[in-house]
Amino acid sequence: MSPSRSAAVLLALLAGSAWAQTPTNEASEAAFTDPVTECTPANNFAPVAAAVAASSFPAIWLPVQSLLPNDSEGAAKFAAMSGSIPNIAPKGVLGVLNETIEDTYPAADPDCWWTVATCVTPKAPGVNPDIASVPEPNTLGYGFDDGPNCSHNAFYDFLSEQKQKATMYYIGSNVIDWPYQAQRAITDGHEICVHTWSHRMMTAFTNEQAFGELWYTIQAIKLVTGVTPTCWRPPLGDVDDRIRYIAQQLGLFTIMWKYNSNDWEVSAGSATPAQVQANYNALVADAQSGAFDTVGAIILTHELNNYTMQTAIDNYKNLSAAFKHIVPVGVALNQTQPYVESNYTQQTFEQYINNEAATPDINNEAATPGNSTGSDAGTGTAAAPGSSSTGSGSKSGSASSGEATGSSSAVSVSSFGLTSVVLGLCGIVACLL
Ligand SMILES: *[C@@H]1O[C@H](CO)[C@@H](O)[C@H](O)[C@H]1NC(C)=O
Ligand SMILES: *[C@@H]1O[C@H](CO)[C@@H](O)[C@H](O)[C@H]1NC(C)=O
Ligand SMILES: *[C@@H]1O[C@H](CO)[C@@H](O)[C@H](O)[C@H]1NC(C)=O
Ligand SMILES: *[C@@H]1O[C@H](CO)[C@@H](O)[C@H](O)[C@H]1NC(C)=O
Ligand SMILES: *[C@@H]1O[C@H](CO)[C@@H](O)[C@H](O)[C@H]1NC(C)=O
Ligand SMILES: *[C@@H]1O[C@H](CO)[C@@H](O)[C@H](O)[C@H]1NC(C)=O
Ligand SMILES: *[C@@H]1O[C@H](CO)[C@@H](O)[C@H](O)[C@H]1NC(C)=O
Ligand SMILES: *[C@@H]1O[C@H](CO)[C@@H](O)[C@H](O)[C@H]1NC(C)=O
Repeated sequence: MSPSRSAAVLLALLAGSAWAQTPTNEASEAAFTDPVTECTPANNFAPVAAAVAASSFPAIWLPVQSLLPNDSEGAAKFAAMSGSIPNIAPKGVLGVLNETIEDTYPAADPDCWWTVATCVTPKAPGVNPDIASVPEPNTLGYGFDDGPNCSHNAFYDFLSEQKQKATMYYIGSNVIDWPYQAQRAITDGHEICVHTWSHRMMTAFTNEQAFGELWYTIQAIKLVTGVTPTCWRPPLGDVDDRIRYIAQQLGLFTIMWKYNSNDWEVSAGSATPAQVQANYNALVADAQSGAFDTVGAIILTHELNNYTMQTAIDNYKNLSAAFKHIVPVGVALNQTQPYVESNYTQQTFEQYINNEAATPDINNEAATPGNSTGSDAGTGTAAAPGSSSTGSGSKSGSASSGEATGSSSAVSVSSFGLTSVVLGLCGIVACLL
């Protein structure tokens, strides 16, 4: 072989291996085992590329400043609800809480503001209570905030091996960045809920901005995974009746928690692994001492980084021994239709614990070939699944976000290059609390 031909072969091999390392679909992404390879962007994921080209999403990782100029559907939905949103002033600016307001907030807690009062039972009329515990005794409502993480395969593999499903609270910007990882949640049968677009403090947004943080995340999840979520969790638990109402009008019910692992605080530098382990152990001890003999618990944990995911794996055995059942929150509530689309069904609690398949929807128009659902997000207000919201959450550290926002004038979708830059910035300023 001539030297130039060997070089060509070598180049072809290199190109081939480089190609092989780029995910082409959910299955190829899910098969990667090296975290660096897992985090190779799917830079030609067509639906997202088209949406980027059409400026259909706000700039990722930046707080939503307003509805996009040509989003007539979003504008109509917002207009339809805006007159009835509880008249509560934003508690800060563009997702950053005003500490002064926090300090002077009335002890009577007029807004049912979780951040200072751990309130989960709304005071405004017509607002559904939060889900802060699950009705099934000795049961743990299991779930993870902040995903999809690009290198989550070892974690999702572990859950699959255990036949364990969970509720995944996905950040819209992460879904745009890591579409195949988001699709894996559906493939593996997890339940997807909304965890906002930019992961800021929701009570510190105007009505329109708060709407946008939820609305564009719903749109991103629908575009990438094909399903429209019906549940959400506020970042750092920051919710009041104004925000609850906006979410409810978008068809989302609010899921809080009763036990906080504080696992996210380790990478933020405000907790040690030993403290997090003590939090897990306290939940286990409570379960063993009968604390959940009548009503189950919900835990707050994160799909944030290797540490939080590995800690979840390490503690799974103890949790499994302490609880009779560990299930996604929607399963504990018999939410058999977790999404707006009727052709996706979820197991009832009984089906889940007996390892039986979910019952297909018998009125399933959408599953008929050639018949699209045509359903769109948030057409109705959220049903209130279950009514158990006895628990109050534990505070997740400082209520102030401490999140730098960077330049926030862009309203069009950033390019993938900018995506990486912004992600890097987020890493530095701890965007992903
Ligand atoms: C939506 O609005 C943006 C910003 O004004 C514009 O660049 C884009 O072309 C519009 N897209 C469509 C599909 O009209
Ligand atoms: C914070 O809230 C106080 C009222 O409690 C207000 O006077 C002040 O201007 C606000 N600060 C900012 C930066 O918005
Ligand atoms: C995911 O986890 C990896 C490994 O800990 C980490 O490097 C990365 O920053 C995380 N974030 C995202 C958005 O994937
Ligand atoms: C965390 O990183 C270690 C070391 O690279 C790896 O062995 C382990 O599988 C990772 N855990 C998860 C959950 O990704
Ligand atoms: C699990 O429980 C055992 C026994 O109480 C305890 O020693 C251990 O620290 C717990 N956590 C892990 C991760 O094993
Ligand atoms: C879920 O279904 C089971 C079995 O039918 C029932 O016992 C339980 O009360 C239901 N839970 C809710 C929240 O509806
Ligand atoms: C599609 O669904 C609609 C609404 O349920 C139904 O009326 C129609 O017959 C269906 N079309 C096909 C081709 O199945
Ligand atoms: C549900 O219907 C939609 C639209 O027809 C289709 O794209 C999707 O694959 C279906 N999902 C399931 C789980 O059958």
